[in-house]
Amino acid sequence: MIWSLLTALVVAGTHLHGTANAAASAGPSACVTFDINWNLLAFGFNGKDYNAGTQDTWTSSGAPTDITASGRPPFNSPNTTCYLSQFTNAIYVLNADSANPSDIYIYDATAKSWTTQTVTTGKFDPSNFGAILDHDTNVFYAYSNGELYNLDMGLLKAANSTPIPWNDVQEADLSADSDGTSTPGAGTDGYQPVMALAQNHIHFLGISSLPAGDAKIFVIHFSFMQPAPQNYGTPFPSTHGRAASFFQDQGVQQEFAFIPDDGSATYVINVETNTTKTLSGPSVKDPFAQYYASTSALVQLTTSGQVNFLAYNQNTTTSGGTWTTISKLPSAASALSPSGSAGAAGAAPTGSSGGKSGSSGSGSGSSGNSSSGGSGSNSGAVGMGSRGLGGMVLAAGLAVVGVLVL
Ligand SMILES: *[C@@H]1O[C@H](CO)[C@@H](O)[C@H](O)[C@H]1NC(C)=O
Ligand SMILES: *[C@@H]1O[C@H](CO)[C@@H](O)[C@H](O)[C@H]1NC(C)=O
Ligand SMILES: *[C@@H]1O[C@H](CO)[C@@H](O)[C@H](O)[C@H]1NC(C)=O
Ligand SMILES: *[C@@H]1O[C@H](CO)[C@@H](O)[C@H](O)[C@H]1NC(C)=O
Repeated sequence: MIWSLLTALVVAGTHLHGTANAAASAGPSACVTFDINWNLLAFGFNGKDYNAGTQDTWTSSGAPTDITASGRPPFNSPNTTCYLSQFTNAIYVLNADSANPSDIYIYDATAKSWTTQTVTTGKFDPSNFGAILDHDTNVFYAYSNGELYNLDMGLLKAANSTPIPWNDVQEADLSADSDGTSTPGAGTDGYQPVMALAQNHIHFLGISSLPAGDAKIFVIHFSFMQPAPQNYGTPFPSTHGRAASFFQDQGVQQEFAFIPDDGSATYVINVETNTTKTLSGPSVKDPFAQYYASTSALVQLTTSGQVNFLAYNQNTTTSGGTWTTISKLPSAASALSPSGSAGAAGAAPTGSSGGKSGSSGSGSGSSGNSSSGGSGSNSGAVGMGSRGLGGMVLAAGLAVVGVLVL
């Protein structure tokens, strides 16, 4: 009995050891993003945070700068995502604290300091959402269970003592209707959000009922979901994937990358020309990887903690490209592991498993502080929120036993 259980665990452990990505059921607990000078910031890498410098230095032998500071989140929750607020040079981090899943951690990249912003969730579910940070308004827009929500970060680079509400904006319409009528709630059943920001429009991709190459568009400044889908010229698949918007040095994003879950290609969609370029798919095919972009690179953070990038010139790159590992950074594989040993497949949550649900506030029907205009530029990483570490705990347990026995 015990023997056969052990045997099973050893088999499982061996299997996990060999195939890191097969064990993943959620996105990384670490995240990477950029400051406004396009230094790559890596958060939650084995208990530390790093500044890996600008793109020209990523594959050099130099060490990254340790920027670990007090007040940082524990980075102990899967599906952590971070977002650059370009006006403020601040990083907003979601899903980084399993005990406080709705808290938004703010890193002031100028002062190198952390604060924690509390929110009122209302009907917003911090364990299940996708989000973008709008460039011009510094407002988060999230899709959760068929509903759109927003949360106004003002121009915060340090937390405000007043909780900020997630406002219920409207029910999404993800239908393929081309008759010009809006159908709230259509097409939302089972939809896993894939959201990309460009020109203050939120593009919803991966909608299985749409033709390949189409997206549904939500126009932020008018709080309006366009009834008819928009076509982008190349039939990128209407399957689930990940997306990240390329920044401009100034002004709104105009392009975003879409990577289908199978990693078969990297599609770059330009919303000015309504065209799509097809670039190389990532070398590491990982449906739970997260992607982040600067002005000139698309960066992949895999669930095994590896950071890879594809150099990209928005003016001149038209196809292809080579993905390269950012060797300067340590692997974040053990971000959830107690030992800190790198490279293991499993991820073992250290802290108390976060049971407490987000502070549920009053909610509200108002749509928050609406557009403030402006001309800087902001973020476009896309995150899936999460909680419930069940699968990961199991995988981690198996991996730990596997490692011990082996
Ligand atoms: C919303 O706008 C009001 C009035 O302009 C302002 O006092 C408040 O701080 C804003 N809220 C946020 C979260 O920025
Ligand atoms: C892109 O599509 C939109 C909506 O159909 C249209 O208004 C715009 O003119 C198109 N742009 C170009 C360059 O074709
Ligand atoms: C791309 O073109 C724009 C407009 O001509 C220019 O401002 C920008 O610097 C160019 N970017 C790169 C990376 O060459
Ligand atoms: C993390 O996000 C994925 C979607 O990418 C979702 O399927 C999964 O349930 C989330 N993980 C957890 C533990 O909630």
